Amino acid sequence: ENESSVSITVVGASGDLAKKKIFPALFALYYEGCLPKHFTVFGYARSKMTDAELRNMVSKTLTCRIDQRENCGEKMDQFLKRCFYHSGQYDSQEHFEALDKKLKEHEGGRESNRLFYLSIPPNIFIDAVKCASSSASAASGWTRVIVEKPFGRDSESSAALTKALKQYLTEDQIFRIDHYLGKELVENLSVLRFSNLIFEPLWSRQYIRNVQLIFSEDFGTEGRGGYFDNYGIIRDIMQNHLLQILALFAMETPVSLDAEDIRNEKVKVLRSMRTLRLEDVVIGQYKSHTRGGVTHPGYTDDKTVPKDSVTPTFAAAALFIDNARWDGVPFLMKAGKALHNRSAEIRVQFRHVPGNLYNRNIGTDLDQATNELVIRVQPDEAIYLKINNKVPGLGMRLDRSNLNLLYSTRYSKEIPDAYERLLLDAIEGERRLFIRSDELDAAWSLFTPVLKELEEKRTIPEYYPYGSRGPVGAHYLAARYKVRWGDLGMEE
Ligand code: BG6
Repeated sequence: ENESSVSITVVGASGDLAKKKIFPALFALYYEGCLPKHFTVFGYARSKMTDAELRNMVSKTLTCRIDQRENCGEKMDQFLKRCFYHSGQYDSQEHFEALDKKLKEHEGGRESNRLFYLSIPPNIFIDAVKCASSSASAASGWTRVIVEKPFGRDSESSAALTKALKQYLTEDQIFRIDHYLGKELVENLSVLRFSNLIFEPLWSRQYIRNVQLIFSEDFGTEGRGGYFDNYGIIRDIMQNHLLQILALFAMETPVSLDAEDIRNEKVKVLRSMRTLRLEDVVIGQYKSHTRGGVTHPGYTDDKTVPKDSVTPTFAAAALFIDNARWDGVPFLMKAGKALHNRSAEIRVQFRHVPGNLYNRNIGTDLDQATNELVIRVQPDEAIYLKINNKVPGLGMRLDRSNLNLLYSTRYSKEIPDAYERLLLDAIEGERRLFIRSDELDAAWSLFTPVLKELEEKRTIPEYYPYGSRGPVGAHYLAARYKVRWGDLGMEE
């Protein structure tokens, strides 16, 4: 019986992402029995290491989820036995040929499928792709390459990267990861919209006043300043994670759930968007702040960041989709590091009820009485809908209450990490959650002019204290479009 095998090579095996996400995700998949019977994991990096040393390193990163506690240690041992290490340069055909030899031994004559996960800096990307594809491609079966952002830093560099990749790979072999697409509630967005009668009819300018996509972290760039300073928050979070969510949120109904059908709709809506203008952007950078005797460093205190850096660690932007469904509806994005909390959410604010009989019972602030749908991507995954409700009692007073679907209460299973779903999809050849090159082009063209302008003008960011709610400029921007930011995690 000639069953096929899958080899997964993690290129950049000793890096942060590999340790924090990739190996743990592979183990979780193994635990769940999702990996094929014949699989091998190879770590590839420059440093010298033995298989045992790699296993030791990987073992420290593995954890068992609450629902994966049974026989956990045993499963870990079994998994680690399937992990190997190969030391080599990222640009050496010879070293990849040596890897190829080892992979062949493990494949033992079976049909071979090979997945390369490139978890390496962008400057060595192409060399590694070249070597992997020409010296270590599968002889039979498929060869796929997962790549992580940054996919360039503007339209031109991204196009150049795509062009270079396509010298060695077909579009079909390239799996561009945006890990936000692997998050449970992002995946659920289409289910919510397209399989509930009560939502889809409301999903347009007719009922929706504005949409907010908010990302916030309560820590700074800590150690990643070297990477971050060349990119900034707009490229790090908005152009990819938040824009991807926006595309899924706003796209028209796809023909089917096939990857190409979905991605066609995403491209379409992205191409209907107005190029972002400088006046619709606010940028900020965090500065040092002392609270309760603890001093948190400012962004430029990071040793890997130039002292005079004006790279934004916070940004807010107003985006518009010029199509029939969304004409005039502001899509507001906000993303920042070193803010007061960690959260990612989508907020949909609905219009006022025309001629509301109860206006007088609501109070003076009608905005406070509009319906709002919140999809909390993380933490404490939830979907809730704010409705007006009569406060029980003899009087007639309304308040806003939540119809609340809190995942931890409703579902007992722990939610898998985004990387688990994405790795599994890549192994299975499911491309739905990966970014196609035309999608990437469309995403860059929205942001490139503004990014250039910010850099050319060396626009000074508004400084905000570490741990605060970010620059007040974000509120002025929102107010210009008659929007009030939902209060991140505070009212609930
Ligand atoms: C990454 C960014 O893509 O996403 C990081 O480069 C950010 O700056 C991270 O911290 C956030 O991901 P998550 O899954 O922790 O919300």
